Amino acid sequence: METKVIFSNDSAGLKAAGEIIKNGGLVVFPTETVYGIGADGLNEIAIKNIYIAKGRPSDNPLILHTNSIEKAEKIGYINSIAKKIFETFSPGPVTVVVKKKDIVPLAATGGLDTVAIRIPSSETARALIEYSGAYIAAPSANISGRPSPTTAAHVIEDLSGRVDMIIDGGDADIGIESTVIDTTGENPVILRPGKITLPDLQKLFPDATAEKHMKENTEGYKPKSPGMKYKHYAPKAKVIVFEGDAELKIKAELETIQKNGKKAAVFCRASSKYSADFAVKWQDSADMARLLFSTLREFDKMGADVILCEAPDNDAMGESVRNRLYKSAGYDIR
Ligand code: TXA
Ligand code: MG
Repeated sequence: METKVIFSNDSAGLKAAGEIIKNGGLVVFPTETVYGIGADGLNEIAIKNIYIAKGRPSDNPLILHTNSIEKAEKIGYINSIAKKIFETFSPGPVTVVVKKKDIVPLAATGGLDTVAIRIPSSETARALIEYSGAYIAAPSANISGRPSPTTAAHVIEDLSGRVDMIIDGGDADIGIESTVIDTTGENPVILRPGKITLPDLQKLFPDATAEKHMKENTEGYKPKSPGMKYKHYAPKAKVIVFEGDAELKIKAELETIQKNGKKAAVFCRASSKYSADFAVKWQDSADMARLLFSTLREFDKMGADVILCEAPDNDAMGESVRNRLYKSAGYDIR
């Protein structure tokens, strides 16, 4: 399949992208979080093609993207909790899990009786939803297991030849995926953390909670969000995360790596100083979120054998970054 690449300011191109979705094709588009690989979420064949293009296990459900609460009500039962979350945080980086309506094929929900719905704020995403007239099913536009894409170049690396079109909208603003919130119980539960954090949610619902993210690869652990159980965000290099006072530990590790003739990269605070082969520095947790996935991919390209990361701060956004970073490291935390 030949993949056409267009820019997000090409309005004729965006209309053509809408037609591709209408006709059951695959279009990668930017959102404020990460790039998504989109198809008509009510078309079973189109949905199956998303799973094939990504190499994704079919029991891992998709998010359906739309542009209003009224439209969300056509595919899911929007209870008062879900409604309040949409009204407060949408359009934006939040996904709400509700009981699904019959119109949503089980192929999109991994066989679950719930559906995840998101109303993105990205202008390009909204234009595509508008032009296609569809509920756009869109997982992150990476090959399953790889870091999520935050630029069109990442998408081209992973999916060129596997999708009909890629819309280049530059760098993603947020850099980590949306906060997924389950609203089917008595109190909302964050299944996947993101820019919208537990303290944000607790301003609306004091009894809101978050699924504990794994600090290690626990056998038999069954998260409510099926996606959380798979290997994730892994670059080719080995990743190690250093918590707490990291300086001496990282310096010692660097010496060992370099003595063995291997190349080491560090991903650390702006104030830290290491003599690594490659380094990317971050200012705070939001900056770290923006840089994380692109840095992992960059270090791979540069030929790093090991990537040493200072853990984020202990603020709420830092927790969301930590969730991805631990997985990238396969829980090698020191
Ligand atoms: O920011 C984002 O959410 C991006 C952009 C493209 O919108 N999309 C994204 O999709 O990250 P994906 O498929 O990579 O992640 C969706 C997550 C998975 O962890 C999945 O298991 C969970 O949402 N999910 C989807 N439907 C669900 C459901 N019905 N119940 C529980 N979890 C669900
Ligand atoms: Mg993903």
